[in-house]
Amino acid sequence: MKLIKVLKSLAVQVSAMSLLAVMSGSVSADTPTLGVMQLAQNSDGFEVERVYMQSCWACHNSGAAGAPKVGTAADWAPRIEKGMDTLLANAINGINAMPAKGLCFTCTDDDLKDLIQYMVDSSK
Ligand code: HEC
Repeated sequence: MKLIKVLKSLAVQVSAMSLLAVMSGSVSADTPTLGVMQLAQNSDGFEVERVYMQSCWACHNSGAAGAPKVGTAADWAPRIEKGMDTLLANAINGINAMPAKGLCFTCTDDDLKDLIQYMVDSSK
């Protein structure tokens, strides 16, 4: 009985820790547990505005945790300077408080690229 209790509390701790790791972006997007197949195209039914509102808006509209605000050119100018490849890589892997894939785990790399282009275009 005791062992089961210990195992149970361990399992809770481990899942809480992996959730934290995902939230903080320290788990790379291709971690097998996420089980998302990478396709070199947009996911089925992908619509950039809808996915932006679902996945990115919460942080990037308010500037939560220092996120560059969409619509604020000054926030985006230094990001745009890094080039799309760097922005995409940082969005896929996460950077600082920006979680891996912006928490859109169904997003393909191309989806993320379109989302970033949309954010950049809306912030000039
Ligand atoms: C939990 C909040 C949060 C969510 C959700 C989120 N972001 Fe971010 N994002 C951030 C923060 C914070 C930064 C600033 C990170 C830094 O540079 O310190 C950031 C930065 C970025 C950057 C700039 C990276 C760079 O290299 O300067 C891009 C691009 C980006 N996010 C794209 C996205 C996309 C696309 C989504 C939705 C799929 C998304 N984000 C969802 C918080 C978030």
